[in-house]
Amino acid sequence: MISNEMARRINAQINREIYSAYFYLALAAQAESMNLKGTGAWFVAKHGEELSHAMKMYRYLIDQDASVRLTEVAAPPTEGGNLFQMFERTLAHEREVTSAINDMVDHALSEKDHATSIFLQWFVTEQIEEEATVKDILGRLRLFGDQGQALLMIDNELAAIAAQMARGTTGTQAATNG
Ligand SMILES: [Fe+2]
Ligand SMILES: [Fe+2]
Repeated sequence: MISNEMARRINAQINREIYSAYFYLALAAQAESMNLKGTGAWFVAKHGEELSHAMKMYRYLIDQDASVRLTEVAAPPTEGGNLFQMFERTLAHEREVTSAINDMVDHALSEKDHATSIFLQWFVTEQIEEEATVKDILGRLRLFGDQGQALLMIDNELAAIAAQMARGTTGTQAATNG
């Protein structure tokens, strides 16, 4: 059993994870409208990952006899911009999620709720990897630019990563499956 306040915070995070999925789906659509098929596939794969994060929290609440309370999901931004700006927005978004997860861990520790604290460790580790992946992509965009052949190269790389994610062979996916 977990406290009502802890359950409220996990429910709020379910909403944030589903919003993240929505956020990535909007970026996928934008990438596809720019004919960046690999980038679109990468964002679609992220959309699926975020839904799986929401489901982990859903399952945890049920396992702990707490109520799942689904709330309205906000619309994602429709900003547009170039590929570099899309990944900058992605990094800013993931950093916000990281700080929300850290706040939840702080709260679990303040309640001496060890079960939730241990449950949340997976998300702490996941956020390190998510931020690192996006920083890596931004680094390559900074190095090669996001025009012409460089754009094609990065789009192809993202297609390859998305295919790995679909096969479940990236670290993130392996962790999700494990
Ligand atoms: Fe997530
Ligand atoms: Fe994420």
